Amino acid sequence: MAVTAVVGLQWGDEAKGKFVDLLSPQADIVARFNGGDNAGHTVINSYGCFKLRLTPNGFSNPKTVCVIGPGVVVNPATLIDEIGMIERSGLSLQGRLWVSPRCNIVMPYHRLIESVYEQVRAGGRTGTTGRGIGPVFADKVSYNGIRFFDLADPALFANKLRLQLAIKNPFLQAFGQSPLDFEAVYNETLQQYARLSEYVRESFGLVQETLASQGQVLLEGAQGALLDNNWGTYPFCTASHPLAGEACAGLGIAPRWIQRVVGVTKAYTTRVGAGPMPTELSDATGEKLQKAGQEFGTVTGRARRCGWFDSELVHFTAQLNGAGELALTKLDVLDEFPGLKICTGYRMPDTGDRLWHYWELDAHRLEACLPVYIDMEGWQQSTQSARQFSALPPRAQAYVHKIEELTNTPVRYVSVGPEREATIEVY
Ligand code: GDP
Ligand code: IMO
Ligand code: MG
Repeated sequence: MAVTAVVGLQWGDEAKGKFVDLLSPQADIVARFNGGDNAGHTVINSYGCFKLRLTPNGFSNPKTVCVIGPGVVVNPATLIDEIGMIERSGLSLQGRLWVSPRCNIVMPYHRLIESVYEQVRAGGRTGTTGRGIGPVFADKVSYNGIRFFDLADPALFANKLRLQLAIKNPFLQAFGQSPLDFEAVYNETLQQYARLSEYVRESFGLVQETLASQGQVLLEGAQGALLDNNWGTYPFCTASHPLAGEACAGLGIAPRWIQRVVGVTKAYTTRVGAGPMPTELSDATGEKLQKAGQEFGTVTGRARRCGWFDSELVHFTAQLNGAGELALTKLDVLDEFPGLKICTGYRMPDTGDRLWHYWELDAHRLEACLPVYIDMEGWQQSTQSARQFSALPPRAQAYVHKIEELTNTPVRYVSVGPEREATIEVY
């Protein structure tokens, strides 16, 4: 397989980090292609427990090159922290972290602008991760971005920064925020660049050479398909495209190279932040899922909303990504439940028995939909030590098979714990 993409099929936090780490020993390159430090990918392996926001999860293999492609927005402070954290664990990224000079930089005003947007929207706020992601992508697509390329030329950077502050400061002041000081932002950003510049170089040639010589490239999607800016629950979504197809633009590879897409999905549903979630459980069962799954956001620490598995959503996002296989995670979280439900589609209050697909509805209509469920029997015994599919209780096997049937996608991996080893390779 030349290129394998690992992508999230729900609203993020599906355990993509665990699967990228699991597959990374075979990879020459692991690359991020979307998002920014709104991502929080947990990895537990022999080097320890890491929660990474920007560094691709190939960092644990000394021979794997880690690439941050041009589709990623970079907060320099976050990346500096991560490089330090990884070095302290005894691993070095020197010579094997490549950050594209085309990456847009999250500037201090992006987070401030986002906080104004969220404040003004009040009850309708998105519930972002507060990392300035919407504003930095808005600047990128409106040609107002500042990239690593610009930092390499201090005079050019000074001009661009002056222009941006001339636009941003009056906006911030109009909403009661203090204006940003040119000298302070200029000096801080260049100091950060001095720390990162050894890693800033375009990987395009390296990636192309790797592909031409039958090397292995692993793509690490951030967020999940239901947060996609086109196909997610807009405006309760993120600013980039967490889809396998986006890797072509976000890294710089042709579509024909992507031969394998692994769709990662939890065995239930979670969401952090606002927006519709048809199977959300606002009762004791939801709380039980939240507790058993330790569902707290990796970046913000917020409690994640929890609900039953929604096969309408995952069927759609598997198609959207071309996922040929599922990695079904956190099955162990369901161990104690006497009965389970799976959503198979939606009804609307005003259209009788007609079944609706997710992709026919906008976020507003989706809020009102009534999920249609099938019941499944719980297995009420631990799955945590299972390492073969046949070692799972028969009812857990039936649950997995039902998900395969409803999503029309085979389950290749079942995850029964956060550690790398707590994984069943089904085929
Ligand atoms: P990502 O953003 O998709 O990489 O996922 P996160 O790291 O944000 O969230 C996944 C969480 O679930 C992390 O805390 C993982 O350690 C944990 N986790 C991953 N797989 C499993 C599993 O199979 N069972 C349990 N109980 N926890 C898991
Ligand atoms: P990983 O890669 C879960 C959500 C936020 C919010 C919306 C917009 O760890 O799966 P943003 O800060 O991107 O403007 O917030 O998107 N969100 C995530 N939720 N996992 C993530 O990343 C997320 N990245 C963004 O909670 O609802
Ligand atoms: Mg996460």
